[in-house]
Amino acid sequence: MSVLVPTMGALHKGHQALIKRARSMSKEVVVSIFINPLQFENPDDIAKYPRSPERDIQLATLAGATEIWMPDYEEIYPGEITKLKASSIADLYEGASRPGHFDGVVTVVNRLFEIVKPEAAIFGEKDFQQLQIIRAMKSSVEIIGIPTVREYDGLALSSRNVRLSEHGRTSANVIYRAMAAARLAPTVAIAQEIIDTTISTDVGFECDYAVIVDEENFSLATDLTKHKRAIIAGWIDGVRLIDNMRMGA
Ligand code: PAF
Repeated sequence: MSVLVPTMGALHKGHQALIKRARSMSKEVVVSIFINPLQFENPDDIAKYPRSPERDIQLATLAGATEIWMPDYEEIYPGEITKLKASSIADLYEGASRPGHFDGVVTVVNRLFEIVKPEAAIFGEKDFQQLQIIRAMKSSVEIIGIPTVREYDGLALSSRNVRLSEHGRTSANVIYRAMAAARLAPTVAIAQEIIDTTISTDVGFECDYAVIVDEENFSLATDLTKHKRAIIAGWIDGVRLIDNMRMGA
């Protein structure tokens, strides 16, 4: 069976964890590297997206990739593009801030699945809303989510972290600190207060959203919600950072 690890390149240890997991399941691990223009609503963001193809090949190979596939635009989108519509949670949070983003994601993921025909595909939990939206595509491909890999201070690994200034990098773990401090709070209201207080102490963090939601449908969590997750996004130095954490023991 073949397992696909879809990426946009600029690989790091987080991607390597996905590839290693794929390799533990299969002798055939395809890593795709394609910066999908359909999921960028801001041309500046795609222009600034880090690119490191040679290093990507090295890191993917070391982690166990058996095929590294770098398709060009024509291969993914020959002719006219039929954009798919992502599930309803795509309008919330990350989707509300980045209109059309998740339609672009499901469109490219669907194309990657059509071309590679994997039995399973691996995605990081760091983009938790994306992971749930891809699960909602209900394709025949098994979707596997892998826990976020973090830096020594809790900052989630991301290709965008290299764009942080030295000062921005130091304060960027405010997101992790807020979620970790709130995780075992006795109620959702107290957890939310801890998150709000923690992020308000960091003047460099421009918060987009910081809420606790039901993992299934992204409605605001209550104390009765079975699986609650804190989801946070915002900017430091103009760099968009997102992260999330399951709340509770
Ligand atoms: O998470 C990503 O890197 C991208 O959104 C993905 C899933 C590779 C689709 O372009």
